[in-house]
Amino acid sequence: MKYHIITYGCQMNKADSERIATVLERKGYLPARNIKQASFVVVNMCSVRQSAVDRVYNKIKNLKDKQIIITGCILKQDRTKLKKNKCEIIDFKDLFKIEPKIIYPECFVPIMEGCNNFCAYCVVPYTRGREQYRKEAEIINEATTLIKKGCPKITLLGQNVNSYPNFSTLLTKINNLPGNFKITFLTSHPKDFSAQLIDVMAKSTKIIKHLNLPVQSGDDDILKRMNRPYTVQQYKNLVARIRKKIPDIRLSTDIIVGFPGETKKQFERTVKLFKEIKFNAAYISKYSPRPGTAAFKMKDNVPLEEKKRRTKCLRNLLSS
Ligand code: SAH
Ligand code: SF4
Ligand code: F3S
Repeated sequence: MKYHIITYGCQMNKADSERIATVLERKGYLPARNIKQASFVVVNMCSVRQSAVDRVYNKIKNLKDKQIIITGCILKQDRTKLKKNKCEIIDFKDLFKIEPKIIYPECFVPIMEGCNNFCAYCVVPYTRGREQYRKEAEIINEATTLIKKGCPKITLLGQNVNSYPNFSTLLTKINNLPGNFKITFLTSHPKDFSAQLIDVMAKSTKIIKHLNLPVQSGDDDILKRMNRPYTVQQYKNLVARIRKKIPDIRLSTDIIVGFPGETKKQFERTVKLFKEIKFNAAYISKYSPRPGTAAFKMKDNVPLEEKKRRTKCLRNLLSS
């Protein structure tokens, strides 16, 4: 029996897929060269936006003759709906403890999983549960093994890597492992970005000088309603501190346009922030209401056309 894995969503899902492959192969299944040759397909799902969920339903429509297993981040109502569509759902447990089969060139090392932050728009705390930290020794062992195998770049993963207890210490320890390799990590939450972490990054020759620091909005009132516990000024101060100590830092961010109630004036404050900070890149998302989240109870009142206009507006600023 041959399997094929399709992975949607973020790097956490990619990292999980590498471990799911190990689980399947230990059970005696072999990797199919392509989807056609597979006797069953594992779909590792993302639910962060409705478009990601729709993509899964479209995919399974086209895979009618195959046995389909769904895993990953699945919302409750989709569990029922997917079962009706003859999909089997498997929640793979304790993937941390399983050695990855290297599928992607990045060498992902998850250090934590889940999220405690409950941003008003976000499903992750519901699909992945509360934060759980992997043991430091386990992380270092895995990194050591990957480096010995010749991995050029270690990517430390978590929904909020810098909420890992003593993340700076962990980074320093990985940095001090012998070998010629680079280190990167994502994603960082502005509220947990410590001065010590800036210092560790500034001193290290192995840590890549790139940071994804999601701001989500440039308006204080929207940030508050998003349950992001910082102000625009605090974010700007943090960026200034980072740039002062690491002048060659590449900075990217995540933005949501059209959060419930976001007025044109409030959006203009995000535009202003873009002009001030001059991000090197940004992942801009149109707000998508997610069942079960706090924002789901708010009215999704920014029309799609307006969300598209706001997206375009920010994209243009990036390329200019
Ligand atoms: N843990 C990371 C990001 C997780 S989700 C962090 O806190 O930054 C990745 C990105 O998807 C988020 O940063 C956000 O910009 C976007 N996103 C999450 N929920 C969304 C929603 N309901 N609608 C639109 N974009 C969303
Ligand atoms: Fe979602 Fe916020 Fe947690 Fe990121 S920090 S995963 S956006 S709840
Ligand atoms: Fe990642 Fe999507 Fe889950 S962004 S954590 S795969 S909901």
